[in-house]
Amino acid sequence: MSHTFKYDILVIGSLNADLVVRAPHFPRPGETISGDDLQIIPGGKGANQAVAAARQGANVGMIGRVGKDGFGDVLLQNLKNNRVDISDVERDDASTGTAIIVVDEAGQNSIILSAGANGKVTREDVKKHSPGFQAMQAVLLQLEIPLETVVFAAQSSFGNDALVILNPAPARTLPDELFKVIDYLIPNETELSILSGIQVTDLASAEKAARSLQEHGNFSVLVTMGGNGALIVDKFDHEIKHIPAFKVEVADTTAAGDAFIGGFASALLRGLKVEEAVKYANACGALAATKFGAQPSLPTKEEVEKFIKQG
Ligand code: RIB
Repeated sequence: MSHTFKYDILVIGSLNADLVVRAPHFPRPGETISGDDLQIIPGGKGANQAVAAARQGANVGMIGRVGKDGFGDVLLQNLKNNRVDISDVERDDASTGTAIIVVDEAGQNSIILSAGANGKVTREDVKKHSPGFQAMQAVLLQLEIPLETVVFAAQSSFGNDALVILNPAPARTLPDELFKVIDYLIPNETELSILSGIQVTDLASAEKAARSLQEHGNFSVLVTMGGNGALIVDKFDHEIKHIPAFKVEVADTTAAGDAFIGGFASALLRGLKVEEAVKYANACGALAATKFGAQPSLPTKEEVEKFIKQG
């Protein structure tokens, strides 16, 4: 990675305290069930992706907001421990963002977000903390902060030649002005269905949905499909490429997608070709799924390299 930039990767996004309970199954409406002890774990898609990339050796900075509460202290300390530069994360009067997460026996999760301070990240924060935007090679964006801030950040980064990577989660329909300034869109199958209005059920429908979105801009789509691997719908290539998943025993899928994105971005900046970077990212996602929790589950570069060698 080149070190003439302040950062290899700048993440502009959310930080959440994840309030996680493991339960035998997801409760149905009106049902009360008992779960394991509550665990409070550092999370948030933005912060997870920042830590995921930093553990791969990238030099990472983050722009975002946490409250002036204890959760905020814990989240910032964990980013610091992982060598993510937190000097551009503001403390807000709103409480720190939280995610209420239930993990079932199969390791699948359901999540309710309470945005808190994440909802207060403005374009002013982006302007204030990224003067000139020449400061980084790639910017990672998600949708857990206000959409207009995401659009502004993407437009500013694009205008300055940084690679713009958007993880459209949680999914919502997106304006053309955003599609026009991204280089990579990385949704899962559900998110791709919501964005495109096309039900994604297999590789063919995933390609159709991705190609329909590509009509709005000039970007490649990487579809993450959990145990089915990932699909590359490259803007320069008429042929799609399916990269199979690594088989692992799943403990908890929370942040597996974030591990993929941090792993992909850092591998790409290290000079790997897209296909190789996606294979590497699949390994990052698979390893994250073998461990419980968001940020504690994100693998280091050494762990990923060893795992890939073992095949
Ligand atoms: O992608 C996983 C993350 O989604 C969790 O850490 C939770 O905070 C939610 O934002």
